[in-house]
Amino acid sequence: MPDSEPQLLPVIRLGNPILRTLSEDVPQSLLGSGELFSMADNLIHTMFKEEGVGLAAPQVAESLRFFAYWVPGDEDHPGIDPTVLVNPEIRPVGDTTEEGWEGCLSIPGLRGSVPRFSRIKVKTRTVEGASISFTADGFHARVIQHELDHLDGIVFLDRMTSMRSLAFEEELMRLVSESEDEAE
Ligand code: NI
Repeated sequence: MPDSEPQLLPVIRLGNPILRTLSEDVPQSLLGSGELFSMADNLIHTMFKEEGVGLAAPQVAESLRFFAYWVPGDEDHPGIDPTVLVNPEIRPVGDTTEEGWEGCLSIPGLRGSVPRFSRIKVKTRTVEGASISFTADGFHARVIQHELDHLDGIVFLDRMTSMRSLAFEEELMRLVSESEDEAE
């Protein structure tokens, strides 16, 4: 098997103290390195295999400030291809927030409604080491805020303003399929 074959990494779950630890900056020496490329590839591979839209390095027990994500396209927005942000910083653009459903590969099976800034400015390094910045909206902004929280030891449960929306995904799916049956 060639070295470049991406690895499926075990995803740690809530209860592992690494998920509650402030991650360290990816050091300058790793930017653009084969080691970082390979770590990024493994993160993307694991994210897809586990059917997530994002996966942060601490979730694979690597306490460093980088994460992978992608955004499926919809009628309003083109999708975003798998992307890895390294040492990212964000700030909200305006103070508008919106509620939306979130889940997390480290908290499997649960969903909750979480308020997030609708629009953010992102300043980050790429895996290659380039400095870039961009603006993200809506679900794209939500995914980045969720993943960046992981780098600070924060999970979506901490961001919920009420636990009353917390639900098992299976239960939500059952309700949706029952209401679709009724509509037929
Ligand atoms: Ni998560």
